[in-house]
Amino acid sequence: MAKRIGILTAGGDAPGLNAAIRGFGKAAIQQHGWQLIGFRDGMRGLAENRFTELDASALSGILTTGGTMLGTSRDKVHRMVVDGEVRDMVPTIVENYEKDRLDALVCLGGGGTAKNARRLMDAGLSVIHLPKTIDNDIVHTDSSFGFATALEIATEAVDRLHSTAHSHHRIILAEIMGHRAGWLALGAGIAGGADVILLPEIPYDVDAIAQRIERRRSHGSTFSVVAVAEGALSGPDRQEIDHAEALVKDASTPQAKAAAKRGVKRLEASHRANTFTLAEQLEERTGLEARVTILGYVQRGGTPNAADRLLGTRLGVAGAEAIAEGRHGVMVADRGHGTELVPLKQVAGKVKYVPEDHEWIRAARAVGTALGD
Ligand code: F6P
Repeated sequence: MAKRIGILTAGGDAPGLNAAIRGFGKAAIQQHGWQLIGFRDGMRGLAENRFTELDASALSGILTTGGTMLGTSRDKVHRMVVDGEVRDMVPTIVENYEKDRLDALVCLGGGGTAKNARRLMDAGLSVIHLPKTIDNDIVHTDSSFGFATALEIATEAVDRLHSTAHSHHRIILAEIMGHRAGWLALGAGIAGGADVILLPEIPYDVDAIAQRIERRRSHGSTFSVVAVAEGALSGPDRQEIDHAEALVKDASTPQAKAAAKRGVKRLEASHRANTFTLAEQLEERTGLEARVTILGYVQRGGTPNAADRLLGTRLGVAGAEAIAEGRHGVMVADRGHGTELVPLKQVAGKVKYVPEDHEWIRAARAVGTALGD
């Protein structure tokens, strides 16, 4: 009997998702002779059993397109809002999996999707995870599709901001996505030649940044470009959030945990306008005008570049090979010159932060880029 496989995309969209759906799908249908169904809107469609049959013609013409042909959502399988109530949808998903006569489920997504996939694996489903995120923060894989395209977009923005900052003798802060890990801001900051790069991993000191800008001015550069990761925090703000997160860990009852989590969310929300606050602080300290550009969703939209099309296709095809070999409960990782299967247990719930001694950090410092510390 031909296998029947389900596929879905979950979490934030990223360039290369369609290339991966196509890579997996073409290998599944044409090479292995399997049937394929695509669930709509991520885990929500899986819980609601909303799917479409995917044949070769449905997969044609999508390699170069942005977004995801299947739609996506950020739902958690064990805490989904259904009819205004938070419900554990894992048992319903298991029922749907059986009703749809699936042999495996392929989940394309980032950190949140890895956690959902792990929960489904624990409930007995045969799950394969393909790593997608523009943040590049998934552990045990060199890269994830979406990152390379977002890096190009963010780099071009940093490039373009130079001429306007230079013309007006201004400080321009470019806010780049990455709320937990700063890979995108670091990569685009280095490639675009930012003068200062701020990452979530390195708490910044406003005075140190102002001094760096002043030093540039004393050498004749009356403008500066600052690449700021969304999640970058000043030293005191970082301490405040670390403290709130410690309260979540230490909470002894579910109620206390929920209250502590709300505390963290509130703090994160209050720091959301950080880049604007930092711009004001730098204006006050340097006397230069400062402006903020939030790159936002432009970084995720549009056609994937060649690297993401290639990575999505490779990981998709390797996902099909894994199923053919009877493997499941794994993420298909990009490693060196090939792919590798990593147990989901080692991936779910972990974040690949930028290590403080990473080569990119050393390179940035070596070319004179300030990192805010
Ligand atoms: O996870 C990818 C990402 O683009 C992050 O860089 C960003 O912080 C987040 O998604 C934005 O989330 P949402 O799509 O829910 O607004």
